[in-house]
Amino acid sequence: MKSYGATISGVGYYAPPGILTNEDLEKLVETSDEWIVQRTGMKRRHIIGPDGATSDVAVPAAQGALQAAGKTAAEIDCIICATATPDYLFPAMACLVAARLGVTGKPAFDISIACSGFIYAMTTAASLVRSGVYRSVLVIGAETLSKITDYTDRATCVLFGDGAGAVVIERSQEDNFLGSDLGADGSDHSVLFLPGGGSRIPFNTNGQFADQRLGYIKMQGQSVFKVAVNQMASSARIALAQAGLSTDDIDFVVPHQANLRIIDATIKMLGVPPEKCIINIAEYGNTSAASIPIALAEAVQNGSIRKGHVVVMVAFGGGLSWGAAVWRWSGARVGKTPVPAGSEATA
Ligand code: ACO
Repeated sequence: MKSYGATISGVGYYAPPGILTNEDLEKLVETSDEWIVQRTGMKRRHIIGPDGATSDVAVPAAQGALQAAGKTAAEIDCIICATATPDYLFPAMACLVAARLGVTGKPAFDISIACSGFIYAMTTAASLVRSGVYRSVLVIGAETLSKITDYTDRATCVLFGDGAGAVVIERSQEDNFLGSDLGADGSDHSVLFLPGGGSRIPFNTNGQFADQRLGYIKMQGQSVFKVAVNQMASSARIALAQAGLSTDDIDFVVPHQANLRIIDATIKMLGVPPEKCIINIAEYGNTSAASIPIALAEAVQNGSIRKGHVVVMVAFGGGLSWGAAVWRWSGARVGKTPVPAGSEATA
């Protein structure tokens, strides 16, 4: 089969205007700003509020990426959403997003692999473009984790926030997708999972749902922490080796923003200096599949990531799962994000 080049041609991001600070959390559970900052690096999170859903943040991020790529939604061949918090279990959120962008009849599907979702979705999109199946794919990482966060559990409620980021990946002469690695190990999935709402414990299981708080994220933080550092470092190394590069060639690492200490330990293990690492965890917390595209967009917007830079994006999350992608930055810009009705955009 003929092979083509793939490049990122536009970036967009959006976070809802509602803010949940560490001081707000002090009023909900027994915690402190000092503990949260010291253990996680987080100060604020953007929260959508009771009336919003994930497609509401996905759409403006997608519109920003399309604007930057100079494309209309109708010119996109395929839409992929990475999310652990879709509007519904089915249909796929990508179908709703496509319709809201004015597109029908094109393939649209979700990838559900928690915080690693955006790396999996980009790899899928780049592969579809490189193989010639599609010319352009819109990839969105979007979450409203506030909807599945238990605000009575101090061990998890301080961590999560809402938001979305998107890229357009399209055919190009130069192939800027240099290397990737994906992996998963489901043998101990319960260290990080949402127990209820699937076919194991359906929503309509009598009483159990509310009593046992099964509709909320359950996590054994320390177990996740240890695996996260090792897997993110090794995944980034594998993707770099596939690209024929070493850590010295990295201009920027854009890691999943799960915890500042996980990020620090990962780049130390990789041997990458802190100034080459993009970190925005203080403002957004952990937005799962949205965290990498939001951090990427901000770094492009503020001029840190520029044309020609080698950028390593690396993630870890529920599954457990992990992944890394190495891109040469094409010079793609961040698009203007329309202000959704009744809201205000951050980008
Ligand atoms: N405020 C104050 N004290 C707290 C809080 C809090 N919010 N949360 C826990 N504590 C307490 C604990 O009860 C414990 O007290 P004890 O010593 O009296 O028992 C103490 O702080 C230490 O708890 P640890 O769990 O050991 O704290 P740790 O330093 O491991 O930090 C954290 C916890 C932040 C959750 C960390 O383990 C972590 O970040 N883990 C990884 C999380 C992650 O990456 N998740 C990723 C994916 S999300 C997804 O895929 C959707």
